[in-house]
Amino acid sequence: MIIAIDGPAGSGKSSTAKAVARRLNITYLDTGAMYRVITLAALREGVAPSDEGALDELVGRTAISFTGVPPATRVLMNGEDVSEEIRGEAVTAKVSEYCAPAVVRRALVDQQRRMGRGRSLVCEGRDIGTTVFPDAGFKIFMTASVAERAERRRKDFARLGIEKSIDELAAELVDRDRKDSGRAVSPFVKADDAVDLDTSGMTFDEQVDWIVEHARKRGFIPAEESYPGEKRRITVT
Ligand code: DC
Repeated sequence: MIIAIDGPAGSGKSSTAKAVARRLNITYLDTGAMYRVITLAALREGVAPSDEGALDELVGRTAISFTGVPPATRVLMNGEDVSEEIRGEAVTAKVSEYCAPAVVRRALVDQQRRMGRGRSLVCEGRDIGTTVFPDAGFKIFMTASVAERAERRRKDFARLGIEKSIDELAAELVDRDRKDSGRAVSPFVKADDAVDLDTSGMTFDEQVDWIVEHARKRGFIPAEESYPGEKRRITVT
């Protein structure tokens, strides 16, 4: 079964999706991380978001892979561990521009579909239920109030040693949502058949339990053993 979790920045998708993947013993795929890797590669090489030719070429030679067992998954760019760098301010400020061009979306959506072939997956992003896996067995649209999302982001940044005010973070979140929703290719919209999950006021465990319980009700059968042991490292490419 594919469990698709879409939602705006800071809605708690990532931590929740990782915990669900862990509980159900299936693979976790963070598509936002993939767009962040391409953004980092482009920033390092000075490729502009408007330069579709150079972006196409860059995407073609940038290998994105994931390793580890959730929640301790790592993100690799051509084998280099960039897990922290892709969450930093430089990438976060630019990712909405680099994830919009058709050449980027086409390549990454293809790769995401390949990663989901023949396996159960918890996949999170902005266009999973609409574009990447429109036939997903369970689609969730996860939201939370702007205030709560900004507070979550503040904690995320604080963990990276970056101090930012709630007001500044709220403005950034709203701006990123607007850009992600307004783009021409697979904009961020809720799939018609997605179930709303507003996490404002819910505890983390309640969110995870809710998804696990509903996945089971929808026929999730724990057949796969993606994470058979703590020590085994799984690489998804
Ligand atoms: O979930 P995140 O904040 O790591 O996502 C980073 C950016 O990538 C976000 O601003 C929108 C974009 N994104 C996207 O366009 N499509 C996806 N499936 C996932 C993320």
